[in-house]
Amino acid sequence: MDKQKSIAVLQAYATGLAAQSLQHKVQSKIFASQGYSVLGEKYSEHAEEEMGWVDKFIDRILDLGATPKVQTAPEMPVFENPVDYIKSDLEVSRREVPALMELTQSLADDFKTYDILKAYALDEEEDMYWSETQLDLIEQIGLQNWLTKQL
Ligand SMILES: [Fe+2]
Repeated sequence: MDKQKSIAVLQAYATGLAAQSLQHKVQSKIFASQGYSVLGEKYSEHAEEEMGWVDKFIDRILDLGATPKVQTAPEMPVFENPVDYIKSDLEVSRREVPALMELTQSLADDFKTYDILKAYALDEEEDMYWSETQLDLIEQIGLQNWLTKQL
């Protein structure tokens, strides 16, 4: 097993995910302030979920004998329109989930890291389906009806 590779991957995801968590948190606040409390709650939970994964990645970096880093996270786009955000999030998922699965596969000989990243990848896959379902629903029941469900 390539310990340095595992550490590098875990660190990269810890940093990226911390930024995504904050993005979800900011979006949660924006949507709640617009009156869409259901959506606000959804993304608030999502933000906490992401930080839960960051927690696991940091623990695993420590297990592997390295010191976790606090790195500058990338700036993330912010949206006023819920549908624009769901579309953007779905785009990220469609791009990132297959890449994450491939990367996870390449760490298969580091069982523990593999298990953590695999569980995370499955979680992200679920989020991708959620976004897809919302866009399908908007198409089927109409934007106004969907927005009403988010109040
Ligand atoms: Fe996510």
